[in-house]
Amino acid sequence: MTARMNTQLRALVTGGAGLIGSHIVDLLVCEGWRVRILDNLEPNTHRLGKPAWVNEQAEFLEGDIRDATAVRAALDGVDVVFHQAAYGGYMPEMGKYVHVNSFGTAQMLEIIRDEGLPVQKVVVASSQAVYSEGAVRCTNAACAEYDRLIFPTTRPLVQLQAGEWEIHCPACGQVCVSVPTPEEAPIGGETVYALTKVDQERLVLTWGRQTGIPTVALRYSCTYGPRQSIFNPYTGVIAIFTTRLLNGQPPVLYEDGYQTRDMAFVEDIARANLLAATTDVNDGLPVNVGSGKATTVRQMAEMIAAALGIEIEPLARGEFRPGEMRYLTSDITRARRMGYAPTVDLAEGIERYLAWIRQQGSVRDYFAQAEQTLRAKRVVQPVSKNVTSV
Ligand SMILES: NC(=O)c1ccc[n+]([C@@H]2O[C@H](COP(=O)([O-])OP(=O)(O)OC[C@H]3O[C@@H](n4cnc5c(N)ncnc54)[C@H](O)[C@@H]3O)[C@@H](O)[C@H]2O)c1
Ligand SMILES: [Zn+2]
Repeated sequence: MTARMNTQLRALVTGGAGLIGSHIVDLLVCEGWRVRILDNLEPNTHRLGKPAWVNEQAEFLEGDIRDATAVRAALDGVDVVFHQAAYGGYMPEMGKYVHVNSFGTAQMLEIIRDEGLPVQKVVVASSQAVYSEGAVRCTNAACAEYDRLIFPTTRPLVQLQAGEWEIHCPACGQVCVSVPTPEEAPIGGETVYALTKVDQERLVLTWGRQTGIPTVALRYSCTYGPRQSIFNPYTGVIAIFTTRLLNGQPPVLYEDGYQTRDMAFVEDIARANLLAATTDVNDGLPVNVGSGKATTVRQMAEMIAAALGIEIEPLARGEFRPGEMRYLTSDITRARRMGYAPTVDLAEGIERYLAWIRQQGSVRDYFAQAEQTLRAKRVVQPVSKNVTSV
């Protein structure tokens, strides 16, 4: 990296028309990089075609990450790859996740290696979804696990079917408290999407060790902000709640709404990518990036309603999504080593998102329709009346 620092660096941002990719593109252009985008304008995300926010100073290649010819063309002359293209969210498909995310990444790495391309770094978008469940501590002083960091497994289906949401200590059974999750936590993936994020991360980091090309896998927490697709009802809790409220509908909370998430403003995530590319302190490592703070999903719904001036209470019907985590806050100590610090808090981020969405014209509610599909495919399940204990 340092050898080229005096000349104009050339970046490929895959998925550069999307939420995070487009903000990375803007930041790189602003920092004087030459930027190319490879994006297939996935119709679930971009129902109206190429979005107006795609930076005109970047070269735009409309193409699929699964298409070797398109990827070869996109990689030509590139110094740093910011690999953001992925099929995301809680979609019912299985094969497509593996094909776009796992295969697409593997093939791109193979092309760089086999053709000896002069790529100097690959930064890949991983996710907090690689963790099965956020870290917790047991507060029972009599327990062998007392005050130790516990990495729980995912909650069993039968527990969720009984409407029991909490994380219990594996030793004493007491309800645990959530604490920030460090990168050392075991990774596994409890949804097909998450499994493919594990694949992408491991493929990139392993390939980096084998080729000697520096790599970083950024484990983003829940990212939101202007440009988050309002067409895709399966992704982005802030976008989904906002479109519901703007349509006079209550935001739907899974479980009881007291599960927590770490919400990251998209510009902070873009900055983390630049830092990962231009520093070497985290080379070869997975790195959590987020706010480092916990917010309940219920709180988010209330904050958005208040910011919109709409008095609609969120609705918790006790439905749940198998494999979903109860609590997750990212420990961002490692990210801070490369100079990362979150700069936009949730209240400001919501205001900035709302300011953007108000400029988007009429916002239709795609949620109800999507919800039916999710239930039919059992991605969302109701609490079972027949199950009374866990
Ligand atoms: N948004 C989040 O909360 C979040 C959290 C963790 C990780 N991530 C990861 O960050 C990355 C970017 O996510 P985002 O939120 O910007 O999503 P997004 O859907 O807004 O952007 C993804 C972009 O990739 C493109 N794309 C999809 N399939 C493609 C294919 N086959 N070929 C080429 N381009 C393709 C889409 O058209 C889109 O523009 C993804 O890898 C995602 O898994 C996102
Ligand atoms: Zn215990």
